[in-house]
Amino acid sequence: MTWTANSCFVTLTILFLWRVEEIAEACSCAPVHPQQAFCNSDVVIRAKVVGEQLVDAGNDIYGNSIKRIKYDIKQIKMFKGPTRVFDAIYTAPTSAVCGVTLVNNGTEYLITGKLEADGTMHITLCDFIKPWEATSATQKKSLTQRYEMGCDCKITRCRFIPCIIHSPAECLWTDWVIEKTYNGGQAKHFACIKRSDDSCAWYRGEAQPKRDFLDIEDP
Ligand SMILES: *[C@@H]1O[C@H](CO)[C@@H](O)[C@H](O)[C@H]1NC(C)=O
Repeated sequence: MTWTANSCFVTLTILFLWRVEEIAEACSCAPVHPQQAFCNSDVVIRAKVVGEQLVDAGNDIYGNSIKRIKYDIKQIKMFKGPTRVFDAIYTAPTSAVCGVTLVNNGTEYLITGKLEADGTMHITLCDFIKPWEATSATQKKSLTQRYEMGCDCKITRCRFIPCIIHSPAECLWTDWVIEKTYNGGQAKHFACIKRSDDSCAWYRGEAQPKRDFLDIEDP
């Protein structure tokens, strides 16, 4: 009996440690509205992959070499970023460490990313990366102006009802509670834009913005 109990304890301990390990290894990101992804990024481009290789990115503190995936890309358009053309994007080698898998078959992607100190572009699973043709008309259009107009607004994700906003400069993102998906109506068709009185509200992307932004349009 004692042996069984002990062995059970050991097994549980191992299982527990294994779980902890797994959690520590997993990449997790808070879901963000595409406008937030745009505003939080240094670089937003439309591009396709034309090559892929595993490259060295120096050593860690133990002297082990760090690998990264380098995607050679063809940049089709830049929506945000420094005035130059990127011909490569870097990411971590596996999804466990937030690396992104892009397909090299002509698929064009919308890609948000960070600019590193050395001027290279780096992407993670927490970025907004989607095949261009899977993005909505509003998302495509908002990249050129609308999202930028709302970067001073705060988009607050509603996870459970009731949700509270703390200032008039916030838009409540309710896709999850209403549609049980983060790729819902507000993500696909709306941008959160600052109005003339400094408050923020959702605007449907297809319509031309009103001059004073005081009419809220319904979906
Ligand atoms: C590229 O590959 C992806 C994943 O395998 C597939 O879903 C997509 O349809 C392919 N696209 C083209 C243009 O072949």
